[in-house]
Amino acid sequence: MAPTVLAARGVGVSYGAQWALRDASLDVAEGEFVAVVGQSGSGKSTFLHALAGLVVPDKGSVTLGGVDVVAASDAERTRLRRERLGFVMQHGQLVPELTLGQNAAMPLRLLGATRRQALANVMPLLESLGVAHLASRLPGEVSGGEQQRVAVARALCARPAVVFADEPTGALDSANGAVVAAALRSSAREAGAAVVLVTHDSGLAAMADRVVTMADGRTREP
Ligand SMILES: Nc1ncnc2c1ncn2[C@@H]1O[C@H](COP(=O)(O)OP(=O)(O)OP(=O)(O)O)[C@@H](O)[C@H]1O
Ligand SMILES: [Mg+2]
Repeated sequence: MAPTVLAARGVGVSYGAQWALRDASLDVAEGEFVAVVGQSGSGKSTFLHALAGLVVPDKGSVTLGGVDVVAASDAERTRLRRERLGFVMQHGQLVPELTLGQNAAMPLRLLGATRRQALANVMPLLESLGVAHLASRLPGEVSGGEQQRVAVARALCARPAVVFADEPTGALDSANGAVVAAALRSSAREAGAAVVLVTHDSGLAAMADRVVTMADGRTREP
């Protein structure tokens, strides 16, 4: 069994008197692909945000690559996200004014690579995702599925330990969604990244090594 890269225990997040997340736990091994499923409002996005250090939990623990995410300072959490994590959201959140190549290369630029280095590094990934020929286009000039494949390249180019994907295919039809999810899985495997994928789609969940179900702010594994 591969070593654990991400471990969460009894995580809870409250907004005022309301618990958005009550008691969620998860272990992810290096390179593992985990799907998180559950009804709307069950706490999937909140859990993902807590795992990624985007919200600080009110109870429980999160450890990522040996770092205590809850005890870390804001600056440390930001650095952790930049250096160790990748994200693909429902809409790729690409910057409309930048070309697809520049969008994909953004994490490398933030880590200090020159424009040329960053682009050179991301091109093979765009190639393997079948979108390299679109690198000089703007996001508005390609399809939703193509945008999401660029977002997958962006999430993986800095070789993160874990990629978080919150319904990355939610805005796509099921055929395109399956293409993007398969691309995410194979590219993450090549890059050695673990994936935590939130999805409503049982077909996509079936691609995962493991499925975690959430209900009423709690995780449940079969
Ligand atoms: N910022 C917030 N303030 C108050 N309540 C919130 C906030 N964010 C989420 N919640 C509540 O917490 C619960 C869990 O929300 P969350 O977004 O995690 O659900 P989800 O499983 O991702 O749902 P969906 O499938 O619709 O995306 C919901 O009841 C939601 O209304
Ligand atoms: Mg959600």
